[in-house]
Amino acid sequence: MSVQIAPSILSASFTELGRDIAAVERGGADLIHVDVMDGHFVPNITIGPPVVQAIERVATRPLDVHLMIEHPERYVDAFIQAGAQMLSVHVEAARHLHRTIAFIKSRGIRAGAVLNPSTPVAALEEIAGDLDFVVVMSVNPGFGGQTFIPRSLDKLRRVRELLARIGSAAPIEVDGGIDGSNAADAVAAGASILVAGHAIFANGDPEAATRALRAAVNSAAGSHA
Ligand code: DX5
Ligand code: ZN
Repeated sequence: MSVQIAPSILSASFTELGRDIAAVERGGADLIHVDVMDGHFVPNITIGPPVVQAIERVATRPLDVHLMIEHPERYVDAFIQAGAQMLSVHVEAARHLHRTIAFIKSRGIRAGAVLNPSTPVAALEEIAGDLDFVVVMSVNPGFGGQTFIPRSLDKLRRVRELLARIGSAAPIEVDGGIDGSNAADAVAAGASILVAGHAIFANGDPEAATRALRAAVNSAAGSHA
């Protein structure tokens, strides 16, 4: 399965979002990952539908919108209307997860469920077959620039096993602390969508950093061949 790079604009310049999105697109980004935080589900507040709509006007890649909010069912339609093409909700926040996933899919976009680091893979057991993608958090959500939790690799393998067991080809996205040192390990463990914020935007050259992240994955794949 080819690997998709999804730069998280959480670490981009919020006054220069158009410039930074264009840079990662030149660098080969496949998706634009947009982190929505409400100050309740996570201890940080970011952006809402109007900003997603503005991003949608300048981005040429699909928007992968990650909702870290309570009561996501109240807001999913607003984010779909704003231009999300992938929309993920946390299993810890969605009380009627099946209903919310079914609604997102009924609107013609891809629906994903996200697991916090402390949430067991078993939480996906009854919903996995309905998902278009799964997101494994490899940090506790709320902030960019945190350190990858090593146990996430084993979790990726167990999510991959669960999906294989039910015959699902849904891709697995890994989110948090991804950089050139662990990206290839995450792919080997089952991830095929890599979210990266700090690793892409912190060094001031997001175009080159996007290329470098893909190169790190490709060179490891070559050395294993
Ligand atoms: C964390 C967010 C992540 C984060 C990733 O709450 O969901 O998408 O921005 O950023 P890095 O790669 O810096 O961990
Ligand atoms: Zn995210």
